[in-house]
Amino acid sequence: MKTLQVDLGDRRYPIFIDAGLLNRSDLLVPCIQGSRVAVITNTTVGPLYLERVLQVLAPWNPIKVILPDGEQFKTLEVLNQVFTALLTERCDRKTTLVALGGGVVGDMAGFAAATYQRGVPFIQIPTTLLAQVDSSVGGKTGVNHPLGKNMIGAFHQPQCVIIDTDTLASLPDNELSAGLAEVIKYGLIGDLEFFSWLEQNMDALLARDPQALAYAIERSCADKARVVAADEREAGLRALLNLGHTFGHAIETGVGYGNWLHGEGVAAGMCMAADLSRRLGWLKPEDVTRIQTLVRRARLPTHAPKSLSSTQLRELMSVDKKVEAGKLRLVLPKGLGQSVITADVQPALLLETLEQCRESA
Ligand code: NAD
Ligand code: GLY
Repeated sequence: MKTLQVDLGDRRYPIFIDAGLLNRSDLLVPCIQGSRVAVITNTTVGPLYLERVLQVLAPWNPIKVILPDGEQFKTLEVLNQVFTALLTERCDRKTTLVALGGGVVGDMAGFAAATYQRGVPFIQIPTTLLAQVDSSVGGKTGVNHPLGKNMIGAFHQPQCVIIDTDTLASLPDNELSAGLAEVIKYGLIGDLEFFSWLEQNMDALLARDPQALAYAIERSCADKARVVAADEREAGLRALLNLGHTFGHAIETGVGYGNWLHGEGVAAGMCMAADLSRRLGWLKPEDVTRIQTLVRRARLPTHAPKSLSSTQLRELMSVDKKVEAGKLRLVLPKGLGQSVITADVQPALLLETLEQCRESA
């Protein structure tokens, strides 16, 4: 088993990574505080893995909360189901919440933990590749608003992250690819060696080679843990983890939550960011091609959908958590394997990218 640490002083926590961890009470039990436990999952993951987690938690007689499955249910209204279950069961401030599922369940359970009685502990058990390499680590929690993705939320770190790589066996192919978008992101923001490794190992990852997947998860979590430890609340450096997200969130919101996977939006968004960097002279055309090729090999989109106009995309991009005093700030590659955050992009250049990087363009 690989154990990494998210080094946040007295709030530091471990990330455990290996096959078969769902049955490991020795990992889960020490992270539980208080006498009550509630497991939050959804209608897809519940039938697959809930029973095994409940067995480990049997001494706590855990409460089960089964949410509807889908990005379109990542709302305050659906989150209220969690609060209703906790209040109905008279859960106190020491109740531990366990998030069992992908990023949607993790973000919602985490936000419930951040806000229920002003904060209770929680544990992440991510079951998608995307959640294992990104959303379960770092304490960003929240829900969507019809006007903007992840606009309502809180920072709240988990007690531990338990990554059972066996759970990826049941993941649909398109969801595996969505996770690979965030994996590629780590290469582009500061890990060129990893980017090259991904170029060499993309076929093995798509074939679900266990060693390749375990390595990609470990390296991604290590990269993310380093960034989070340095800048937990996104005062600066952490914003780099949003490479491709301003474009991607605009696509996700524009087409309607759930119609494009989050990772698909990020993939197209990274290619759009690369295109803009080329226009700024920050990225060589051959490096843009390398990025597009890797994204395409991961079976991910490189362009925004043609159903959204460049004007619509620009408008949607203005609802972004990186906007400061009305000014858009973008994460853009500056050389392959490095990215920067900038507020100095000429509007005309951005519009060129938005116009050119749509499916039909
Ligand atoms: P998801 O949670 O919707 O999961 C994808 C699909 O896979 C769902 O249908 C889910 O039920 C199913 N599923 C989950 N595990 C499975 C398994 N083992 N076998 C079969 N099916 C399984 O999507 P996601 O890609 O995991 O997460 C996307 C969400 O994460 C977005 O809402 C995004 O905003 C958020 N996110 C958050 C952060 C963060 O730092 N908090 C980072 C990245 C993304
Ligand atoms: N996925 C972006 C972040 O965790 O900061």
